[in-house]
Amino acid sequence: MPAIASSLLDLRSLTQIQLQEFFSLASSLKKQKRSPKYVGQTIALMFFEPSTRTRLSFEAASYHLGLGPLNFDGSQGTSLEKGETIEDSILNVSAMKPELMVIRCNDKVELQKISKLVSCPVINAGWGILGHPTQALLDVFTMSECFGSIEGKKVLIVGDVKHSRVAASHLELAKTMGYQVAICGPEEFLIEDSNVKKFNSLSEGLVWADVVMALRVQFERHDLKSTLSKENYRETFGLNSKSLKSFSKNGLILHPGPINHGIEMETEVLSDSRCQVLNQVHHGVIMREAILRKMLGES
Ligand code: CP
Repeated sequence: MPAIASSLLDLRSLTQIQLQEFFSLASSLKKQKRSPKYVGQTIALMFFEPSTRTRLSFEAASYHLGLGPLNFDGSQGTSLEKGETIEDSILNVSAMKPELMVIRCNDKVELQKISKLVSCPVINAGWGILGHPTQALLDVFTMSECFGSIEGKKVLIVGDVKHSRVAASHLELAKTMGYQVAICGPEEFLIEDSNVKKFNSLSEGLVWADVVMALRVQFERHDLKSTLSKENYRETFGLNSKSLKSFSKNGLILHPGPINHGIEMETEVLSDSRCQVLNQVHHGVIMREAILRKMLGES
């Protein structure tokens, strides 16, 4: 069995045993915190695209381990403003010899190639539309904590699947972890994949599902077409107390965040007892601490 990937860029290459090790460690960290053991060492957190949950949860997890975060905020105050490239920025920070590099960037950046040039393992913290493996892992951790096991569970992903790195990572992870994924949304948001079940009707999808995950409509990657207004989307695919009447009383409602309130999800859903949105964020810190510890070689 290969060691836990030297870099974590996708979930395809991990075995079920390796994935289970992440979940077991996260479970034990949730019950009992470990003491920091990497004081005096650093981790580079390089975010070339906006982030709240992922960036701050990696930062929190780093503090739990005693790792000093080298925070690179691509939006301001770096030499990107003087024309330095993303690739050069990564290589230069790598030369400072952090233990790990956590990188969020667009999908034009060749992370596979860069990960072979840097001095330490790289963790994909959201790579354009290609994948967001740590988000899928924390989602599965959340489901497992609620259900006991994810095996055979049915997850309905609603919305902008085509532009969603979260959906891309779930489609990889579901194969190894044995849960089912179906997609639902307007045709222009869905991928063509004969192996993935599709629902055109939200209520039919909700009847089928154990878990419903609403996705953010990614306005920065495309606009809703005139044939599909925000109001239409909200009416047809939005989660609200009326649409969720078709959904199991024991089901789980997820959203990776950030939420477009009043488009893919109404604010009232956050107070539904099935809603796990803030629990996902809590689990994000625990899961990312488990990932960092594993990638630093802990058993
Ligand atoms: N879910 C997620 O990736 O959120 P952020 O963009 O805030 O990190």
